[in-house]
Amino acid sequence: MAQLDWKSLGFAYHDTNCHIRYVWKDGRWSEGELVESPYIPMHIAATALHYGQSAFEGLKAFRRKDGKVSLFRPEENARRLAVTARRTCMAVVPEDMFVDACKRVLKANMEFIPPYGTGGSMYVRPLLFGSGAEIGVAPAKEYTFIVLVTPVGAYYKGGLQGVRAIVVDDYDRAAPQGTGHVKIAGNYAASLYPHLEAKAAGYPVELYLDAKEHKWIEEFATSNFLAITKDGKYVTVESPSILPSITNMTLQQLARDMGIPVEVRPIPFEEVTSFAEVAACGTAVVITPVNEIERAGKVYQTGPATGCGPILEKLYKAVQGIQYGEIPDTHGWNVDVE
Ligand code: PLP
Ligand code: COI
Repeated sequence: MAQLDWKSLGFAYHDTNCHIRYVWKDGRWSEGELVESPYIPMHIAATALHYGQSAFEGLKAFRRKDGKVSLFRPEENARRLAVTARRTCMAVVPEDMFVDACKRVLKANMEFIPPYGTGGSMYVRPLLFGSGAEIGVAPAKEYTFIVLVTPVGAYYKGGLQGVRAIVVDDYDRAAPQGTGHVKIAGNYAASLYPHLEAKAAGYPVELYLDAKEHKWIEEFATSNFLAITKDGKYVTVESPSILPSITNMTLQQLARDMGIPVEVRPIPFEEVTSFAEVAACGTAVVITPVNEIERAGKVYQTGPATGCGPILEKLYKAVQGIQYGEIPDTHGWNVDVE
């Protein structure tokens, strides 16, 4: 077992034994090799560096109560990466290769998977990028696919204690026909400046509205928006320019299982005043309650003063309970690593 302070990992990078690396050349992927060095030699004209031909995924592996390790819904991440790859003219990673890559790299790094009961998990980060040289703006003829793993804890300090969010009105995350629905590196590069502004103003999370009218809620910088209405419905955003979150999809199913009605629809910003609970959801943030949202100097209360509302808490326990093997995985979402 690696010597790490499992309970205070936060969301930070830790070196592990190795990552797995594949190269696509002449129309086919290599077999994949485990590489110890965390450095990649790159061609100076690689399209990833110049033209942002780069995309990633994020999923987690959990050490369960029974001691086994499982990945949560990896085939969904494989599908989303394929959509991203097509949109950015990159080689598609077949689903079975994607899942196998995650399993192989996890098996080589078992001692870094946080033990059951620490609240930690292994973050799995697949990355696909154009590694071939081009100087004109054109798709590369060579691609590299890697999967790195790193043990993580809570994304935001305080976890279920809740965070305050601020609406970004001076910047947009994604245009209506742009690339918000795919997980390309450039979306995150564009989010850094507004993120630092929000942080400097005392807000760890920023909420984006639609680029055309600034009327409709889109999503947070690294997570989807979800709300519980006062009459107990689960409401989340329908928009072509947000990332289809696998966590959100999972929570919607769990809500339906609990008899909670689910609405996926456009949500005007004014509606925030009518919600009982609001949260950010995603692999990294899991469910993070958002108890206050500021817009243009006005503060809207969107949940209890601190902590998590009752329905969000129930959903949080349900999803984490399945991931850590504490309750039956009736949907077959956990994929055994060994
Ligand atoms: N939205 C954005 C912009 C994200 O970066 C993420 C994280 O992956 C999500 C939503 C949540 O997606 P998922 O639940 O698949 O992790
Ligand atoms: C994730 O939740 O996996 C993400 O990709 C969010 C962020 C760390 C970029």
